[in-house]
This record gives sequence, structure tokens and C-alpha cells, in this order.
Amino acid sequence: MNDALSPGGELLSLVGVGKSYGTVRALEDVSLTLRAGEISCVLGDNGAGKSTLIKIIAGLHQHDEGTYTVGGEEVRFDSPRQALDLGIATVYQDLAVVPLMPVWRNFFLGSERGMRRWGGLRLDADGMRATTREALARMGIDLHDVDRPIGTLSGGQRQCVAIARAVHFGAKVLILDEPTAALGVKQSGVVLKYVTAARDAGLGVVLITHNPHHAHLVGDHFTLLKRGRMAGSHPRAEIGLEQLTTEMAGGSDLAELSHELARPSAADPLEPPVSRETRETRETREERPQP
Ligand SMILES: Nc1ncnc2c1ncn2[C@@H]1O[C@H](COP(=O)(O)OP(=O)(O)OP(=O)(O)O)[C@@H](O)[C@H]1O
Ligand SMILES: [Mg+2]
Repeated sequence: MNDALSPGGELLSLVGVGKSYGTVRALEDVSLTLRAGEISCVLGDNGAGKSTLIKIIAGLHQHDEGTYTVGGEEVRFDSPRQALDLGIATVYQDLAVVPLMPVWRNFFLGSERGMRRWGGLRLDADGMRATTREALARMGIDLHDVDRPIGTLSGGQRQCVAIARAVHFGAKVLILDEPTAALGVKQSGVVLKYVTAARDAGLGVVLITHNPHHAHLVGDHFTLLKRGRMAGSHPRAEIGLEQLTTEMAGGSDLAELSHELARPSAADPLEPPVSRETRETRETREERPQP
């Protein structure tokens, strides 16, 4: 990838990308451009094709239609390693960590540093500990004990370590698959803070989420997927939280659902007959203040 990328420079671009798994059409005619220092959110319901899209970007799967360019050059990755070599790092939801290993070992997993000692090659444990501590501190992550097994960290903390790791190892593109899906409000906030820290460090971030509130807090661009197709693509200036929430919820589908879920009226044939007395009792109960 071009090292001279200036902020706002194009990192990668997908044009008219499609992908089928056998007879299942998972993606069709999807386009997306990611620039340095930008967070691009991909939103969509279950099965919309979000993971398929990032697997193509990350080199895990190949597109079978359209073009994918990185740093202006067309690519077709055979493995995630090739994507990683171009600076495209992916943090999957189930995080590829070894829970019983210390934080620093996980930080350096697959990129361990060695040192010569007593004529042999040993792991430079002290050096890696110190670097892990520094890299986390640089991202503003306050973790005193990097010897703790990573499995003892909260889900949010683990996501933060994974983000700091990608930044430290020189990623230019960071892909996050639903990093806040399993987290509470406070932890989600912490993770989103480090997502913006990665952006401020000049990375381009692709953030996959179900949550329009989280997307709107940090996103510069929003792509909505629906059954494998693009249902919307908006820069931040063009879309407010309310419209994003409505589009994400399915717009007219939501109106229909709300109609279906509305309390059946007394005239509804499915409603069991309710005597006048019962209805009055129910109304009185509903009015009673809750303890
Ligand atoms: N390896 C696979 N083999 C066959 N079909 C697949 C495969 N992976 C995904 N699909 C199908 O492709 C479609 C898109 O799936 P994908 O996982 O990309 O959706 P998603 O938006 O990530 O959903 P979720 O929110 O549930 O994670 C779905 O219909 C899914 O069943
Ligand atoms: Mg998915």
C-alpha cells in the first residue's frame, strides 16, 4: 500500500462487488470507499451480508463480481495474510486470543520477538511486556498488569487490546465486526473511544454494527445493507440519527410490524371475548401507581 497516504487519501475501494455461496446470493452490487482517518459504518440486519463483506476485504473470501482495489491497485487475496501484509487488520467478534496466556503474549501472538542469549534464541519476554504496556498506554488504555491471562479481562477490554495491537503493528485499515454487540452501555462507550483513537492515529476503520446509535456516535459514512444489497450509502452530513435508526429498522417494514403488534381492538375477531367487568378491573389495575 502507498506509504505516502495523506489524511483523507483513499485506502481501499469496492465497486459493484458480489458474492455467492453456492446458490445463496450473499452480496450483490455493493460499493464502498474507505479513506484514511475515517470511520465507515456498515449496518444491516442478520444475514444482510455484513460479515461476507468484511471477509472479502480481509482476504478470507473472494468476491466473484466487481472490483476490489487497495491503494489504487486491484487485488484478489488468496489469504488473510496477504491482506494483513498490505496493512488490513481484522478484529473478529470472537477475537482470536488464547484466554490462558498473558495479555502481552496475546499482543505479540504470531509476531513474537526473540533475543540471542547463551548461544540460543529466547523469547524477549521483558521487551515484549514493556512494549505491550507502552502500546496500550499510547492508546490511553490503562492496564497495569500485562501478565494477567487475557481471559480475565472484560469483553470490552479485550476489544481495546485488539485495537491497540492492530495500531501498534502498523495497520492502515482496521476492520471491526460488531465490537459492541455483546457489551453493555459503558463498555461499548469505552470501545468506541478506542475506535476513534484508531481513526485519530490516521487509520481507516470499517465498523460493522447492528446499532445505529453506536454508528452515529462515531461514523463518517454509513452503508446500509439489506438482503445482500445496498439499501443506502450516506456521508454523515446527509443523515441524522433518526433517519439512520428508521432506515436500519427497515422503514416501511417497521411501520408494518408496529401495526401488527398494536393491541388488538375489541372488535378484533382473534380477541377472546372480555366481559365488561373484567375490562374495568384491568383498567383499574393499570391505573394503580406502581410501588
Ligand atoms: N460460508 C457460508 N456458506 C453458505 N452461506 C453463507 C456462508 N456465510 C454466509 N452465508 C449466507 O450469506 C448471507 C449473508 O450472511 P452474512 O454472515 O454475511 O450476514 P451478516 O450480515 O453478517 O449477518 P449477522 O448479523 O447475523 O452476522 C446469509 O444468507 C448467510 O446464510
Ligand atoms: Mg455477521
